[in-house]
This record gives sequence, structure tokens and C-alpha cells, in this order.
Amino acid sequence: MPDISNTSSTKRVTMFAGKGGVGKTTCAGATALHHASSDGDTLVISTDPTPSLSHIFEMTDKAKPARVLDGLYLAELGQSEIRQMWDKKFGPEVYEVFSSFVAVDYDDFAEFVTSILPGLHDEFMVDYIKELSQTDTYRRIVWDTAPMGQTLGLLETPAMLREHLKPAPRIYSRLKLGSRSKRPVLDIIKGWEELSGEDMEFLRQGVSFVIVTIAEALAVEQLDSILEEMGRYGFRADQLVINNVIKEIGGSSFLQERADQQRGYIERLYRQYSEMKIVEVPLFSQEVKGLERLRKVAEHLFCGEEV
Ligand SMILES: Nc1ncnc2c1ncn2[C@@H]1O[C@H](COP(=O)(O)OP(=O)(O)O)[C@@H](O)[C@H]1O
Ligand SMILES: [Mg+2]
Repeated sequence: MPDISNTSSTKRVTMFAGKGGVGKTTCAGATALHHASSDGDTLVISTDPTPSLSHIFEMTDKAKPARVLDGLYLAELGQSEIRQMWDKKFGPEVYEVFSSFVAVDYDDFAEFVTSILPGLHDEFMVDYIKELSQTDTYRRIVWDTAPMGQTLGLLETPAMLREHLKPAPRIYSRLKLGSRSKRPVLDIIKGWEELSGEDMEFLRQGVSFVIVTIAEALAVEQLDSILEEMGRYGFRADQLVINNVIKEIGGSSFLQERADQQRGYIERLYRQYSEMKIVEVPLFSQEVKGLERLRKVAEHLFCGEEV
């Protein structure tokens, strides 16, 4: 078993995944703060369609990226960036193929494709972050993702894309494309496959996965399935964060009961994922918003680690 803390620290990109509402954005923000002070220029980037990063950092600056403090930058990617990436990566090539048998405007086509195929969203996000990580702009990139459904979609996209593309050469061999040769179509498909393959490889080699969960039945069940799914694609989570752990009871029987219930799930997580690095973050008496509270979360996430 490789030293987990070592492997994750050599990877420049850390991705936070997990069910909705468990504290991914909170942990991503806290991690970015930590890296910004210990490693240098850090970008915290959200690919959640309903992002909340700016909110927890209390940012009003809409620049992309916006400067949070020295060494820490924040960006939330949305539909317009996806559209730009579509244009850059696939747009004209794919349009060329489709427009040979469907009369449609480029804009309408791009709008349609980028809105109906959620997988494309994920593919572009991976690609965007891959390209960013290959430049020297940032020492660290902390990636806050959407809830689990999208994360799974993200992992599935390249394989899905490959599946969808398989019948394409057959279809084209049946279509009368006039003077067009079949070759360019096959080249495009090959290009797609290569891109998917590179993105998948980047996720495996260049990204450290942190899964956030809470000590509740549904969250733990969903965690099992997300890890199983990741395993099927050859991904390994580097770290598990158990958030909202009740640590201070203060004589309250209400909190005691809740904490006892959590304990059962927490013990199960330690047993089941004994090979994983597990970190607990306590439930704070207040929501986590603003730098000061994020720093507190970071203390728990990185306690006992060399800075
Ligand atoms: N350890 C914690 N203690 C108290 N509140 C927390 C804690 N972690 C997260 N929260 C709060 O829970 C809510 C959801 O957290 P968030 O990070 O946005 O979840 P996600 O990104 O997984 O949807 C936020 O209001 C956040 O302030
Ligand atoms: Mg979030």
C-alpha cells in the first residue's frame, strides 16, 4: 500500500466529491485556504451548476478567477464556459458532420448539444482542469464538484462517449455523403476517443479524490456505491472526510442520542475503509462561512500534518 499522504501531496489537483449537502464546498474551501498558505498560489474551482463557493468565501467580485486573498483565487464554472469549451474542443468538427445531413444553424446546434448532454458538461470540466493543471499558473487546484449524481456521470462520460461513438463509422458508411470521404469522420471519432482517454488518465494519475460524507444511513450507503463505482473505473479515493461529527455534548441528552447514533456509522466506516485515510470534522455550532471559520475546518482536515 503506497503512503497515501505522499501520493496525494504530489498530485496537484484535489477533487471533493460526495452526496449533496455533506460539506464538499466547505471542505474544498478550507483545503484551498490551507494550500494557499502552505504551498503557494491555489485555485479553488467549482463545477457545480449551483455553486456556493463565492458565498462561503463571502465574495462579491465576479471576476474569473477572483482573488480571495494573496495566493488564493476562486472560480465558478458555468454554462457559458461550457459553451466556450464546446466551441474550442468539438464545435466546428462535430457540426461539420451533423450539418452534412441535418440543416441546422451552428449556434442552435451547439446550444442544443451542450444543454441536452449532461455528460459533456463533465467531460469539459475534466478537460478544463486537466489543461489548467498542465500550466504553471497554480501550485494547487482544489476542485469542488456537484453532488454525487454528477460525479458519477463525470466518471462515466468518457466510456459513455466511446460507446456512443462506436456505431458511428457504421452509420456513416451507410449515409451518402456525396464527395465527402469517410476518413475525416473516423478521424474526428479517433480524436474524441483520445481526448476521453487523456481525461480519464488525468483523473487517475493527476487527481487526488477526497470523498466527503456524514454519519447517517443514506450518506454511508451512497458512499459505498460511489466507491464501488469508482473502483470499477480504476479510481481510488485518497481520503475520506466524515463531516458534522458531534463532539461536544454539553450534557444534552438530545445531542448524546444523536452522537451515539453517529458513532455506529463512524465505526462502520473505519472498519470498512481501514485502508483509507479518514479525517473527522466536528459539527460546529454555526454554519461555516467566512475565512475565520473555514480556517477552523482546515485545522481539523490537516491536523497532525506537516505544513
Ligand atoms: N462541520 C460543519 N459544521 C457546521 N456546519 C457545517 C459543517 N460543514 C458544513 N456545514 C454547513 O452545511 C451546509 C452545507 O455545506 P456545503 O459545504 O455547502 O455542502 P455541499 O457542498 O456538500 O453541498 C452549509 O451551510 C455549511 O455551512
Ligand atoms: Mg457544494
